[in-house]
Amino acid sequence: MKQIIGLYPGSFDPITNVHLDIIFRASKIVDTLVVGVAVNENKKHLFDMKERTKLIEEQLLINKSKLTNAKVIAFDGLLMNFAEKLNANVIFRGLRAVSDFDYEFQMTGMNARLNSNIETVFLMASEKHQFISSRFVKEISLLDGDVKSFIPKEVFNKLNEKLNKNK
Ligand code: PNS
Repeated sequence: MKQIIGLYPGSFDPITNVHLDIIFRASKIVDTLVVGVAVNENKKHLFDMKERTKLIEEQLLINKSKLTNAKVIAFDGLLMNFAEKLNANVIFRGLRAVSDFDYEFQMTGMNARLNSNIETVFLMASEKHQFISSRFVKEISLLDGDVKSFIPKEVFNKLNEKLNKNK
């Protein structure tokens, strides 16, 4: 029987509860789910590729009873090249607000032009995670706001360590 391989790509700088929610839900739809961490040297990340990957690995391990078919792989270069290498059938993206739509619409269109056999499927962020973004988590934390409810505990600790905080 054909195995369905899903790819959930992103920057994950760092992984948040909205990412984790999408991972849980996407993993139920496919046989194998690869969480693809984009290296993207041009983008300024707080966490380097190894740290971002490790934080996701840690979450997959903590939730391994529910996430038996998920793994994380870092990738450099074009998403569609990576998807082809994995033999992925479907790419997952999370959608939060309407503001995500333009960017996602364009990216999906471009990716479809590169390989129309690989579908992009959007999962709406759950209502309680609608507003979470890695960018704002970092900004709020940097400005001493409480981000505990937006990210897993282990990520919270790592973020504080990174920002030299003692909370
Ligand atoms: O979490 P993000 O930052 O929204 O994820 C964006 C990501 C990593 C999926 C996107 O930037 C990407 O696919 N990067 C790889 C390079 C690529 O394929 N660019 C062409 C996109 S049309």
